Amino acid sequence: MAMAQAYRLDLLLALLLPVVGALMPGTVVRLNEAVLSYVSEIGTAPLQQALRVTVPYFLDWNEEVHQPTRIQTLNVHVPHFHLKFIADFGVRMLVAANFTFKVFRVPEPLKLVLPVVLLADAQVAQGSIRTPVVSISACFALFNSAAVLDGSTSVAPGLLVLVQNHIKAVLRNKLCLSISNLVQGLNVHLGTLIGLNPVGPESQIRYSMTNAPNITKDYISLDISAILFLLGKPIVLPVDVTHFVLPPNVGADGAMATVGLSQDLFDSALLLLQKAGALNLDITGQLKSEDNLLNTSVLGQLIPEVARRFPEPMPVTLKVRLGATPVATLRTNNATLQLQPFVEVQAVTSNSAFQSLFSFDVVVNLDLQLSVSKVKLQGTTSVLGDIQLTVSSSNVGFVDTNQMRPLMDTVFKRPLLDHLNALLGMGITLPSMVNLYYINPEVFVYEGYVVISSGLLYQR
Ligand SMILES: *[C@@H]1O[C@H](CO)[C@@H](O)[C@H](O)[C@H]1NC(C)=O
Ligand SMILES: *[C@@H]1O[C@H](CO)[C@@H](O)[C@H](O)[C@H]1NC(C)=O
Ligand SMILES: *[C@@H]1O[C@H](CO)[C@@H](O)[C@H](O)[C@H]1NC(C)=O
Ligand SMILES: *[C@@H]1O[C@H](CO)[C@@H](O)[C@H](O)[C@H]1NC(C)=O
Repeated sequence: MAMAQAYRLDLLLALLLPVVGALMPGTVVRLNEAVLSYVSEIGTAPLQQALRVTVPYFLDWNEEVHQPTRIQTLNVHVPHFHLKFIADFGVRMLVAANFTFKVFRVPEPLKLVLPVVLLADAQVAQGSIRTPVVSISACFALFNSAAVLDGSTSVAPGLLVLVQNHIKAVLRNKLCLSISNLVQGLNVHLGTLIGLNPVGPESQIRYSMTNAPNITKDYISLDISAILFLLGKPIVLPVDVTHFVLPPNVGADGAMATVGLSQDLFDSALLLLQKAGALNLDITGQLKSEDNLLNTSVLGQLIPEVARRFPEPMPVTLKVRLGATPVATLRTNNATLQLQPFVEVQAVTSNSAFQSLFSFDVVVNLDLQLSVSKVKLQGTTSVLGDIQLTVSSSNVGFVDTNQMRPLMDTVFKRPLLDHLNALLGMGITLPSMVNLYYINPEVFVYEGYVVISSGLLYQR
C-alpha cells in the first residue's frame, strides 16, 4: 500500500503514448469483494504507520505555570479495517484505531489510549493517463473518550479533558490528511497499470483503461484495452475490434479477480507473432545421424528425381514460413489453434547453396492449453489429428503426399511443437501493476473469450 517510490518512467511513457482513437482489443478486469479483504489485510500495517502522526506540545493555560507538555505517540493499533464497494461511486473505508499517547506531565508521565473511528469515502475514477485514480471525497474522525492506562497515577479530570481536546483537535486535521496521502501513494502504484511490457525482443504490450470503472456493491469492473507494439508501431487488426463485455457469473466464485480476455486479444497477439516472424523456423537435418530422416537419400527413396540429382547424400532443410496469421478458436472448454505454414523443402548442395526441391501448403490443428504464471498468460500446444499437406510446387516431378506424410509427421511435428511451445511459454503479460502477481489462477475457456479467476499477491 505505502508506495513511496514514484514510477516516473511510466508516467513519462504514458505522456508519450499517442492517443489511439481506434478501438483496441478488450480485456475486462473485475475486482470482487475478496480483493477488498485482501487490501485491508495487507494495508493494515501501512495504515498504522501512516496514522502515526505527531502531536505538538500541549500548553495548559489554566495552570499557573505555562509549562509546555510534550505528547508522544507511542503506538497506533488498528484492530478493525473494513472496506466495501459503494455502487456507482467507489469504496467506503471504516477504520477503528487505538492511539496510545505518553503525556510527559510533571511529576510523572501519563499514558492514554484514545479509540478513534475513521470513516472515509474514496471515489474511483479514470485518470487522465487512463489509469484508475482513487480520491478521498469525505473523511470523518469520530473520537471515543480516552482511557488512562493502568500504572498511571490518578489524574485531575479537568486536565484529562484538556489534554484530550488538544489531541483530538490535532488528529481531526491530520488523520484524514494521512489517509489522503496514503491514497496518493496508491495512485502512483495504480499508474503502473499502463507500463509497457515486453512480449518478445522487439514487441511490447500496454494496457490502459478505456472508460470510467463500473462499480456495483459487489465488484469494480474495469474496461482495459491492450495495445501490442512491434518495433514501436501498434498492431492493428484487419477487422473491426468489437467492444468486449464480460458476462456476469463467469469463472470461479469467490476469486479476488476475474479477468476476461477477448478473442481480439488472441488475434492481435498471433498477428504480432506472425508479423515479427517469430513463428518461422528452419528445420535442418544432420548427416550421419541415425534418427534424423532429413537427407536426400531418405527423400530419394520416395522421389526418384531426388535420388538421381543427389547421388551423394546431402542434408535437407525445411523452411517453415507463416504467411497467414494463425487462427485461435475459443469454444467452451476448448481452445484450438490453426496454423497454415508454407514449407519449402531444400537440399544443401555441395557448394553450400540451397536448392529448392518442392514445397507444401500445410494445415496443422493444435490443441491450446492456457495457464497463468505470475503475471503471464502462457500456452502449450499439441497436434490434433493429422497434418494436412498439399503440394504447392515441385522441381523434382511428382511428389506423392501420401508417401510424404509419415516422413513429414516425423521430421516436422516435433520441431514445430518445440518451437511453438517455447514461444508460447514465454507468455504475454496480463493486466497488472508493479509488484502485483496472480496467485492460484484458474483458466476457463468460453465461446469467444477466456476468463482467468485468480487471487492476487502483492509482493515487494
Ligand atoms: C482498542 O479498540 C477496540 C475497539 O475499537 C477496543 O475493544 C479495545 O478495548 C481497544 N484496546 C485498548 C487497549 O484500548
Ligand atoms: C460498463 O458499463 C457500460 C455501460 O453499461 C458497458 O458498456 C461496459 O461494458 C461496462 N464495462 C465493464 C468493464 O463492466
Ligand atoms: C540419412 O538418414 C537416415 C535415416 O536417419 C540415416 O540412416 C542415414 O545414415 C542418413 N544418411 C546420411 C548420409 O547421413
Ligand atoms: C476441441 O475441438 C477440436 C476441434 O473441434 C476437437 O478436435 C478436439 O477434440 C476438442 N478437444 C476437446 C478436449 O474437446
